[in-house]
Amino acid sequence: MEKDTLSIIDQRTKAGYGIPLFKGTVRAMDLRQIKADPEDFGLMTYDPAFLNTASCQSSITYIDGDKGILRYRGYPIEQLAETCSFLEVAYLLLNGELPTEARLKAWVHEVTHHTMIHETTKELLQGFRHDAHPMGMFISTLAALSTVYPDARNIHNAESRRHQIVRLIGKVPTIAAYAYRHSLGFPYVYPDNELSYTENFMSMLWKMAEPRYRANAALARALDVLFILHADHEQNCSTNVMRAVGSSHADPFVATAAAAAALSGPLHGGANEEVLKMLDEIGSKGRVPAYIEQVKAGHGKLRGFGHRIYKNYDPRARIIKWAADQVFEVTGKNPKLEIALELERIALEDEYFVKRKLYPNVDFYSGIIYQAMGFKPDMFTVLFAIPRTVGWLAQWHEMLEDPEKKIARPRQIYTGYPERNVIPVEKRGVQALAVER
Ligand code: ACO
Repeated sequence: MEKDTLSIIDQRTKAGYGIPLFKGTVRAMDLRQIKADPEDFGLMTYDPAFLNTASCQSSITYIDGDKGILRYRGYPIEQLAETCSFLEVAYLLLNGELPTEARLKAWVHEVTHHTMIHETTKELLQGFRHDAHPMGMFISTLAALSTVYPDARNIHNAESRRHQIVRLIGKVPTIAAYAYRHSLGFPYVYPDNELSYTENFMSMLWKMAEPRYRANAALARALDVLFILHADHEQNCSTNVMRAVGSSHADPFVATAAAAAALSGPLHGGANEEVLKMLDEIGSKGRVPAYIEQVKAGHGKLRGFGHRIYKNYDPRARIIKWAADQVFEVTGKNPKLEIALELERIALEDEYFVKRKLYPNVDFYSGIIYQAMGFKPDMFTVLFAIPRTVGWLAQWHEMLEDPEKKIARPRQIYTGYPERNVIPVEKRGVQALAVER
């Protein structure tokens, strides 16, 4: 047997197989040759939530969950957060290298000049109910952009793909800000091309009657850093959706809308909103121990705790604490912080959480910062979706260039009835009763 081979003996047939190892994995299709008899379909793998399945090869983001390492294109997240702007990191994720000064300037100019949305898209946003959840508005508007840019269907054309990527990155803050202003009943603010990506976003959110909005520099930088931290996270739930939808050759606007829908769930990006609800529910520092006991007794989960990949600590949570300090310096401390710190302190010492390797994740503190900046909790996941759009698009682009790409289509283990005959409706009484029970 070759050294880089996995030897398998099928005890049903006593046949032996040498399955080649590929970058520390076995290719599931190499198992198909293992059959109990010639009629057998062949061996498949069963992995309902992709706990142990690599779905692609990617050179974008590296995570070592045990060591708490996160790198974009090889660069540690800590260095990127400290030295780069969000659009610089976006360029890196999309192109594989950090831009030169000239390229960065051109890239920023390009994205900045695609921030405007069509007036009919603005009218679409106006049509939402006054209390519409901003994430629902965000997802629907992204999908609607597909009708504004039918050329986006031309996904095999590299230049067209690039154009849609710029459009999406330019427009997501505008859609997010319009959704925010809509919920407050304020008029929409048009983008200001003289401002940076985050300053322009803040202007579209908070500008009132003044001729030009002047963003607080510390808040703008903190938001930029939060955007860098959220830009990509390899094959998470929403990115998996982006790749799966994109694999059918759907256009990038509807694929991004689908990815944003996945992000909105409380087990994923929706967790930041849930954390604030939880802190409200706890109410005071003194009630933290009782709340933790409740979670340990199986009544709900500690929102913002735990991660599929990080089993040591989430490196983003550490940088978020830095961003929190910067923001609280300007806004004053969010009173919820005291409860959150106490929750973290007790949980990190508690046997239940230690044994299960449960640590605060990126969503645990981001909501507290966003709230201090003036956002309502229902905007938190939208704030996550803006930067993650870059990651989704980088992964989508990589997927389309992958020579191994095919439509994503898993198999199943069928557990239903064997073939049976339809009983005429008037004779179905007994069967129908069984279903109702
Ligand atoms: N509070 C209490 N117990 C928890 C928590 C939590 N937040 N998270 C996991 N556990 C427990 C589970 O009940 C399970 O216990 P058991 O072994 O006794 O059954 C054990 O820890 C393992 O948890 P799993 O659910 O198997 O872990 P999985 O990797 O499938 O889920 C997830 C990860 C979804 C993030 C989970 O930890 C969770 O629901 N956390 C709360 C929601 C959250 O913060 N999501 C944001 C994640 S970050 C992001 O998506 C951007």
